[in-house]
Amino acid sequence: MYRLSRNDKCWCGSGKKYKQCHERSDERILMPLKRQGYPIPPRRLILNAEQIQGIRESAKITVAILDKLEDLIEEGITTEEINTFVHKYTLDHGGVPAPLNYQGFPKSCCTSINDVIAHGIPCKTALKNGDIINVDITTILNGYYSDSSRMYMIGDVAPNAKKLVEVTKECMYAGIKAVKPYRPVSDIGNTINAITDKHGYGVVRDLCGHGVGIKFHDDPLIEHYRQKRPTMIMVPGMVFTIEPMINEGTWRGVTLSDNWTFKTQDKKLSAQWEHTIVVTEDGCEILTK
Ligand code: MF3
Ligand code: CO
Ligand code: CO
Repeated sequence: MYRLSRNDKCWCGSGKKYKQCHERSDERILMPLKRQGYPIPPRRLILNAEQIQGIRESAKITVAILDKLEDLIEEGITTEEINTFVHKYTLDHGGVPAPLNYQGFPKSCCTSINDVIAHGIPCKTALKNGDIINVDITTILNGYYSDSSRMYMIGDVAPNAKKLVEVTKECMYAGIKAVKPYRPVSDIGNTINAITDKHGYGVVRDLCGHGVGIKFHDDPLIEHYRQKRPTMIMVPGMVFTIEPMINEGTWRGVTLSDNWTFKTQDKKLSAQWEHTIVVTEDGCEILTK
């Protein structure tokens, strides 16, 4: 897979070569920021128009799966059955489920119930009335990765759980709205943390958003909590996820002996929503819409 070089078509879709289009203005704006100590993305993180289109195509599968799960997920279904559906739908549409065998992960999606923050492994556990579950889907299509997750609520969900799910969704969209070119990625976490503070929630620090698109996990690191150090500058053509994990109680988590399942330390609930976005000239576009 190649990355944006000076002779590639510009990320903006003009059809012109990058060197004849946005290269110069990108660099003119970035140089002073670099001098102020902000890390500037290496060129490999600026994807071109074809690559961004490849991620859009991949995202069609990811989004279709998350949509279909709205109907499929109900009381009594096991996370293994959710996994089987995800696996088959992905292959039937020409894709590959990225989680399967990724660093030894044994299944095709992550299913994280109640106090599981992330990376829950599908198994024989059946969903119960009142559960909240995150299903996280990453699809590879023609080498392009798209990564998105949603929360699903089973039957009569307690008001506190419903509120956590909704505030976490609000956090994700506020983070997305905070994306502006030539601003640091810390704008995202600062925006999210201001919302969670109002509710006394904890923002998970051990797992973060990430560059995605031609790899599963790349720079930049997207912290969802408050961060004062100078962080990487967002530049049009960068593709990354925003995927806040918000806990009802402490932000601290523990990893189980399966080496994957990441739970809240205080056993209180956790929620997460995730989108893959591309930075544009005036904000960003959600690719997993
Ligand atoms: N999809 C997760 C993310 O948002 C990563 C899952 S890694 C796996 O980054 F191996 F657990 F699948
Ligand atoms: Co992700
Ligand atoms: Co994900």
